[in-house]
Amino acid sequence: MGAFTGEVTALPPDKSISHRAALIGALSEGVTEITNFSAGFDNQSTLGVLRDAGIVVEQEEIIGAYGRNIRKVVIRSKGLWSFMAPEKPFMCNNSGSTMRMFAGILAAQPFESQLVGDSSLMKRPMKRIAEPLRMMGARIGLSSDGTAPVSICGTKDLKPIEYCLPVPSAQVKSLVAFAALHADGESRIIEPIRSRDHTELMLGLETIDHSDGARVIVIQGRQPLEARPFYIPSDPSAACFIVALGLLGNGSEIIIRDVCLNPTRVEFIPVLTAAGADITIENSRIIGGETIGDILVRSTPGMKPLVISDKVVVAGVIDELPMLAVLSAFSSGEFELHNAEELRTKESDRIDAVVVNLERFGFECEQYPDGFRVIGRRSMPSGEVTIECFDDHRIAMSFFVAFRATGEPAVLSDSGVVGVSFPNFFDIIDSLES
Ligand code: S3P
Repeated sequence: MGAFTGEVTALPPDKSISHRAALIGALSEGVTEITNFSAGFDNQSTLGVLRDAGIVVEQEEIIGAYGRNIRKVVIRSKGLWSFMAPEKPFMCNNSGSTMRMFAGILAAQPFESQLVGDSSLMKRPMKRIAEPLRMMGARIGLSSDGTAPVSICGTKDLKPIEYCLPVPSAQVKSLVAFAALHADGESRIIEPIRSRDHTELMLGLETIDHSDGARVIVIQGRQPLEARPFYIPSDPSAACFIVALGLLGNGSEIIIRDVCLNPTRVEFIPVLTAAGADITIENSRIIGGETIGDILVRSTPGMKPLVISDKVVVAGVIDELPMLAVLSAFSSGEFELHNAEELRTKESDRIDAVVVNLERFGFECEQYPDGFRVIGRRSMPSGEVTIECFDDHRIAMSFFVAFRATGEPAVLSDSGVVGVSFPNFFDIIDSLES
């Protein structure tokens, strides 16, 4: 087992907040300056579709905190209806957030457009975006399987909506909010189980919290948005991989700086500390409406197995589940997950992808429609294991962390896929190995 020690100051800027900053910038009147924008492929896909819709997007490298090169993005727009009909389909590559959130904006523009993606994105469910947009008056076409290409015949006359989210999804919530900004009147989104709330925070939307945990988000349509600057903190979902590396290694101690600690994003920390993980938060403060701080993690041998079944917890760790499962399997030999059918609709079927790869390492697993169980490790692999990445950055990184920290011989089928959200993933891990 390796030891990983040191300070991480170059974690990628948050993917979710980067998407929203670019889209909100394009919806705002004036010049939006975004400091520390993500270089990840997904966020670059969002800039790409905005450019293809005629929005002026500039990107430059500047010197940021810790003397590091960071990206500054400048977006110039005239507001809610500044988008132009494209000459070709909008290419979203691997990015579900780009496709789903941009669809909410396109539904309000008076032209026809089409959204397409790579082979992984073309398989992901899109009925969830068609339903509310059709209720608001846009015409939406999907494939017979309910997937992309998403064809949109937008209208300037979108109707306001009262919409209860059928699945906890911050992407669907955001697309409805972006469409509702253009509608003639007040819209309400009801969220029975809370998902990440960056869109509400960044747009300054009114929210009403109910005692049962549900939240109502109120959007006033046709109010001009004024451009304002955004700063993007480090991505907590990327931090989770470094946390897992620290926990699994032997004698490790890592401090990860300036991470977004929005409570809707860091549920993985209480989940891990309840299992005994040595994680502490330092230097917590609020910047631009988001809580930011440092995460200190130390190796923790003898962590208890994770059992995750509460729907609210599942929604809070939805992107971290592959890493939590792999970490629990390698540290305790066991893991159990229920109520997580959403995991089958991500960049890959993440339930199947984790199970297939754990089995290659000799773990015995059992799959359910909404989860899986790791029963124990029955054998050690006879040679080098190949991890099948399934075009999925989080599958690749979860297993890389496990085999690098434990020193078990393995390789990734496709290491380039990490660039979707964490282009400097391998460099950061190399820099921590002592
Ligand atoms: C995201 C929401 C989540 C998450 C995705 C990013 C966002 O997807 O899995 O990686 O930025 O809103 P869903 O909205 O489909 O749950």
